[in-house]
Amino acid sequence: MTQSEAVSREAARGQETLLRTEGLTLRFGGITALREIDVEVSVAEIVGVIGPNGAGKTTLFDSIAGMIRPSEGRIWLDGREITRDPAHRRARAGIRRTFQRQQPIGWLSVEDNALAALEGRGGGGGFWADLLGLPSRRRIERARREQVMGALEVCGLVGEARRPAAELSIGQARRMELARAIVDRPRLLLLDEPTSGLEEAEVEIFAATIEALRAATGCSILLVEHDVPFVMSASDRVLVMQEGRVIGSGTPAEVAADPVVRAAYLGA
Ligand SMILES: Nc1ncnc2c1ncn2[C@@H]1O[C@H](COP(=O)(O)OP(=O)(O)O)[C@@H](O)[C@H]1O
Ligand SMILES: [Mg+2]
Repeated sequence: MTQSEAVSREAARGQETLLRTEGLTLRFGGITALREIDVEVSVAEIVGVIGPNGAGKTTLFDSIAGMIRPSEGRIWLDGREITRDPAHRRARAGIRRTFQRQQPIGWLSVEDNALAALEGRGGGGGFWADLLGLPSRRRIERARREQVMGALEVCGLVGEARRPAAELSIGQARRMELARAIVDRPRLLLLDEPTSGLEEAEVEIFAATIEALRAATGCSILLVEHDVPFVMSASDRVLVMQEGRVIGSGTPAEVAADPVVRAAYLGA
C-alpha cells in the first residue's frame, strides 16, 4: 500500500486521529532502537505491533508513554504535542501502558486491586475529598466502586471481584491487570505482550475482552504481541517492526501478503 492510499483510506473511514508520531528516532549509546517511526492510531482503533526480539517494540511504547525521551521526532495526542511531557502528564492525558511482567497484590481482592490502581492515580478526585473530609466523600466512594465494577465487567471478572488476586488463574490475572489499566478510562492503552504464557483458550478470551473494551469505551489500543495469529485476529491494522524500523503496515490481510514482511518475519 502506498502512502497516499493509506491516507485516503483513513479519510474514507472518517476516523479521528488520536496518536501520531513523526520521525521517532531513539538511540541507546551505539544502538539505534527506533529509526524514524511514523505511527498513527485513530480513536477506537486497535493496532497490532509485531516483530522479532530487539525490533524496538517495547522502546516504542516507552517513548509514547514518556518513560524515555526520543533522540529525534515528535509525538502528538489528540493534536497536542506531548513530545516533552513527562510520563505522569501523559498518563493524566489518558495514555496507559502495561508491562511485560506485573505483580498484583495477591492478598487483596480483585476489586480492591482495581480500586488501588484507581486511587493510586487520584481517580475521582478522591484524594482531596478524603483529605478535607467533604460530605461528598461517600458519593465519590460509590462512584469509584462503580468505575471498578464497570472495568471488572468489561474484563469478565465480576464473579471474581471478592476473591484474593492470588487465587486467580493466569488468564484471569492477566485480565485483572487489564482491569487495573482501564479503571479510569484511558484513551490510549499500550499492551506489551499481554497474552505471553497464556493457553490458547485464554488468549481467545483475552482477544474478546479487548474487543469488548473497545466497544464499551472507544479506547484505542496499541498491542505488542509475539502470538501472530492473535494479533492478526485482534487488530484493525498491523505494524511490522524490524531493527527499529517499520518495514510493513496495513490490514492483517495486507501485512500477511506483503512479500517484505513474509521474507523478514513470517518466515514464508
Ligand atoms: N535501556 C536500554 N539500554 C540500551 N539498549 C536498550 C535499552 N532498552 C532496549 N535496548 C535495545 O534496543 C533495542 C530494542 O529493544 P526493545 O525495544 O526491547 O525490543 P522488543 O521489545 O521489540 O524486543 C534492542 O537492541 C535492545 O537491546
Ligand atoms: Mg519487548
